[in-house]
Amino acid sequence: MSELTLSIIKPDAVAKGVIGEIVATFEKNGLKIAAMKMVHLSRREARGFYAVHRERPFFDSLTDFMSSGPAVVMVLSGAGAIGKNRELMGATNPAEAAAGTLRQRFATDIEKNAVHGSDAPETARTEIAYFFPELDIVNR
Ligand code: CMP
Repeated sequence: MSELTLSIIKPDAVAKGVIGEIVATFEKNGLKIAAMKMVHLSRREARGFYAVHRERPFFDSLTDFMSSGPAVVMVLSGAGAIGKNRELMGATNPAEAAAGTLRQRFATDIEKNAVHGSDAPETARTEIAYFFPELDIVNR
């Protein structure tokens, strides 16, 4: 059965000009793009998206970064899409990310880490709904 997950190509990766390489990695690994758009988040929108992290010491810096430039938000679909996406991204800290993963290839540091992916089905539902109305998600 097909699963949906939210992916974000963060402002650092967009600035590096690697949108295409990241999307190609998803497509080559069996994930389909079910929705996609370019956004430039306001600070408020970034803080809303990362609200679960609001008590963390890095919250202000993270949300300033996420609102610093354009990002690409996508819904990925496929069997085991949540886990598959996390596998392709690699560890949050690029210094610990396995060779060939997106974060090892494109991240700058633990904050500017190129991509975001939902970590569980419930989070995926909430995160997808934050950016995409149901009707904008292609069902295939
Ligand atoms: P992401 O997968 O989008 O989920 C939360 C984000 O917070 C994470 O990627 C990083 O961008 C950021 N983050 C996590 N841990 C730290 C940290 N220790 N210092 C700074 N940023 C962090």
